[in-house]
Amino acid sequence: MILGYDEAGEGPVLLLVHGFPLDRSMWEHQLEGLSDIRRVVAVDLRGRGKSPLEKMEGSTINDYADDVAETVDALGVESVDLAGLSMGGYVVFAVRRRHRDKVRSIVLIDTKAEDDSPEAKEAREKTAAQITEQGTGPLVEGLLPKILAEGASEELKAVTRKMFENTPPKAAAADALAMRDRLDSTPDLAKINVPSLVLHGEQDQIMPLESAKEMAGKILGAKLVPVPGAGHLSPLENPGAVNAAIREFLSRINA
Ligand code: MLT
Repeated sequence: MILGYDEAGEGPVLLLVHGFPLDRSMWEHQLEGLSDIRRVVAVDLRGRGKSPLEKMEGSTINDYADDVAETVDALGVESVDLAGLSMGGYVVFAVRRRHRDKVRSIVLIDTKAEDDSPEAKEAREKTAAQITEQGTGPLVEGLLPKILAEGASEELKAVTRKMFENTPPKAAAADALAMRDRLDSTPDLAKINVPSLVLHGEQDQIMPLESAKEMAGKILGAKLVPVPGAGHLSPLENPGAVNAAIREFLSRINA
């Protein structure tokens, strides 16, 4: 499926994949702040925003990755710099496994390589069932207090809430089950042979900074840049630091 997206700028493509339960609008500061060095493309994964909601049930992270690859083709380019936040990072790993030639470099943000533990898998099922029965309300109330760094502004909280609430329940439930079934990407880390950058909110309560450090340590040549004042949504919480790190990283990529 070719995904809907927003874009800004010209030149080599930097393609951005959002997390759960979010959409392309989480990258507004990257579209604005990096469009002088890249054609920045922020996609909506299937089922939300500008992307069709058909084919949602039973979708897998591999399907999301194949959608990204089809979208790269539709953009008319051979390869992209590929960045993903959290669930978007799981998609980045899957694109790299399945469509290696389309990936020129990777940026992993507030994400991890491990698959779900048996307990986490059970929790995903509960989340999916709850969304199907009650909509995304309880999920939103549960996630909001944890996703941003302490002291986040009311404005940022409101923007985040709106994104959560915009995600159709069908898409959020399918995401939960897709994440439950994702592969462990840890064995892939040593095989990554494109330039890689790892960015992680210093105050991420959902995935600790320590595990991102470990992940970066397993990718040849990867650098971890901690993002100060950010929780799990660092591109929105500290766009200045995130954009500066991506800019510096991309300046060394031969596109
Ligand atoms: C996300 O932000 O995409 C999710 O927290 C990822 C997850 O639940 O594993």
